[in-house]
Amino acid sequence: MDKIIVEVCAGTHCTMMGAMNIIDSIHSLDEIQREMGGEFCEVEVRAIPCMDLCRQGIQGPIVRVNGQILHEAESESVMAAILARCPKANK
Ligand code: FES
Repeated sequence: MDKIIVEVCAGTHCTMMGAMNIIDSIHSLDEIQREMGGEFCEVEVRAIPCMDLCRQGIQGPIVRVNGQILHEAESESVMAAILARCPKANK
């Protein structure tokens, strides 16, 4: 199973804009998968330092899903990006 890498910026700007809520949501996804009796995709969440995108005027929270940058990320948009990369979730 391919692992989906979700990098959530934990710099000051992104944290103030709600980055920690996104991390909590991704952990909830793991719990839901377990309750459903198995994992349909493996997700690794990493809190990473400021990517300096905030200094370029890009609004946070900023999240990278397998390298794709999401700005003004919300739990819903991050979940959609994760599920789009889960082969079993798309069957
Ligand atoms: S704090 Fe997130 S890019 Fe700077």
